[in-house]
Amino acid sequence: MTTENTAAPVSERDRVIIFDTTLRDGEQCPGASMTFEEKLQVAELLDDMGVDVIEAGFPIASVGDFESVAEIARRSKRAVIAGLSRAALNDIDRCAEAVKHAKRGRIHTFLSTSPVHMKYKLQKQPHEVLEMIVASVTRARNHVEDVEWSSEDGTRTEIDFLCRCVEAAIKAGASTINIPDTVGYTTPAEYQALFRTVRERVPNSDKAVFSVHCHDDLGMAVANSLAGLAGGARQVECTINGIGERAGNAALEEIVMAINVRSDVLPYATGIEATMLTRASRLVSAVTSFPVQYNKAIVGRNAFAHESGIHQDGMLKHTQTYEIMTPDSVGVSKTSLVMGKHSGRAAFRDKLKTLGYDLGENALNDAFTRFKDLADRKKVIYDEDIEALVDQGIAAAHDRIKLISLSVIAGTRGPQRATMKVEVDGRVQTEEAEGNGPVDATFNCIKALFPHTAKLELYQVHAVTEGTDAQAEVSVRLEEEGKVVTAKAADPDTLVASAQAYITALNKLMVKRHSVNPQAAAG
Ligand code: KIV
Ligand code: ZN
Repeated sequence: MTTENTAAPVSERDRVIIFDTTLRDGEQCPGASMTFEEKLQVAELLDDMGVDVIEAGFPIASVGDFESVAEIARRSKRAVIAGLSRAALNDIDRCAEAVKHAKRGRIHTFLSTSPVHMKYKLQKQPHEVLEMIVASVTRARNHVEDVEWSSEDGTRTEIDFLCRCVEAAIKAGASTINIPDTVGYTTPAEYQALFRTVRERVPNSDKAVFSVHCHDDLGMAVANSLAGLAGGARQVECTINGIGERAGNAALEEIVMAINVRSDVLPYATGIEATMLTRASRLVSAVTSFPVQYNKAIVGRNAFAHESGIHQDGMLKHTQTYEIMTPDSVGVSKTSLVMGKHSGRAAFRDKLKTLGYDLGENALNDAFTRFKDLADRKKVIYDEDIEALVDQGIAAAHDRIKLISLSVIAGTRGPQRATMKVEVDGRVQTEEAEGNGPVDATFNCIKALFPHTAKLELYQVHAVTEGTDAQAEVSVRLEEEGKVVTAKAADPDTLVASAQAYITALNKLMVKRHSVNPQAAAG
């Protein structure tokens, strides 16, 4: 932090619990699915970064979800591992089965309380909803001590009824009460007042920690979350890069840095190691294939870039002229020229360490081979190139379909033709196809090799770094029967990156085929 302020010492500030739901609410958003191994990786990083509670998934949603929550629970170090559950008793039992492996497990159960949700979604009367809250929290308490209850669509709930629900949930044993702004409708002043009112009016409110959970439909998720803290909440539910349903959730990195930088007016402390924020952002972007917008606060590519002459001049005179926090404070390393084809394994391992990667021996060998291959094709390799290469390897490690080779004939004389070799479940196959341009020919080849009904919804190309030999980063979005997946791949050859991105998306679609959406199924 660079700007002087009048903050109280950390020991005197109120501790705010950071509850990360990247693996549940974040993963729920269209296209952001992660594989089992990717979820384990993200969970490990969140735990190491100091996240207090990791919501690892929704165990009843699918066998895959159950298994990933159970495995994350088994591997947890410091963090509490939470699973989400509807109010149905079998959901709660399944959730308990998954989180029981954690050193500290939590069941997070929720039920809608707003008039519109009760009438149309649940088709229940308020008294029935109250009974369900008591039954569900009681059931969860029979399994674990740590139970969180959420009033879905809490900000559109009639206040007297909300207070009765909260009181009943605490009486039944919930020690955390979350009042979500499920549809991103509230405003900061309103949300602050809501927490103040509920805490004042509910007689047993001192027996629970109150929690904020904000969606970003009107772009106010972070502001609302901070306002909830001013109203007395002490847990924030958020996601890395703000991914989540529709417009997303409050971004963890923004909450943490707002608290760190403005501790003069936000007298709180979190347990987050802020220098790991950039690494977390990049990992989540890589495994979900959701690009981070360039001007995104804290972790966007331009967040610390100073382009105009006046700003650059100011920065040279004193960094505090245009920087309220240093890039180092959030783990941004300056883009640097790294290595070329003569660099050895030790230097490569060292570089990975400074970029925040801690790879096992096999993953390191694989990344090094791909680094050498890239160095043969690209003169200058930047940190971003290495990150793209390693992230891609992490994402592809357990794919069913693997690209072996591709050659394409393109140019002014059509038709364009692609020849591709892939390995599907260990079997090598080759195909040729023509198309309306080289990308179309490449994608037709994939369709011939692996017939599917998924529709291509988005195809986008950007450059990872600068120059004509820059790696092309391709994003592909596929849709099949309402399930949407996005995938990214980078390579100096745009067509190889295109094929790789399409194949990664297909691999993700296969993982996604058997899961249900907890919000849609709630009730
Ligand atoms: O937005 C929401 O209401 C939720 C609940 C399930 C906590 O995600
Ligand atoms: Zn939510």
